[in-house]
Amino acid sequence: AVERTLSIIKPDAVAKNVIGQINARFEEAGLSIVAMKMVQLDDEKAGGFYAEHKERPFFGDLVSFMTSGPVVVQVLEGEGAIAKNRDLMGATNPQEAAAGTIRADFAQSIDANAVHGSDSSASAEREVAYFFAADEICAR
Ligand code: CMP
Repeated sequence: AVERTLSIIKPDAVAKNVIGQINARFEEAGLSIVAMKMVQLDDEKAGGFYAEHKERPFFGDLVSFMTSGPVVVQVLEGEGAIAKNRDLMGATNPQEAAAGTIRADFAQSIDANAVHGSDSSASAEREVAYFFAADEICAR
């Protein structure tokens, strides 16, 4: 089925100037970018996005990293977009990410891991709505 998933190009990848290279991987894999904006997150916006991790020991570091510089938030659309994006990203920890994945090629650590992607259809729905109003997503 055609799905939508939320993608975030994180501060490390924005700082490395690889937004275009990451977008090319999505497009080459058949995913269309149907919404996109660059934003500077604050503690409240980043903390709310990662609310499910609030009790985890890494929550503080995660929020400070995600607010350390601008991010690109985007909606990717395509056949099986949620799983396809997770395959393109590779494992959360770049040390464990398969060769040729975005995290293997562009990430340095589990915090500075270049990209985020929704992990299920329920989280995709929540995460897309967290950053985009319906009229900011362009049908293809
Ligand atoms: P992301 O997919 O954005 O979702 C939560 C983020 O927390 C994850 O990517 C990592 O960047 C970060 N993180 C830091 N430590 C851990 C950990 N031990 N397990 C999972 N995620 C972690």
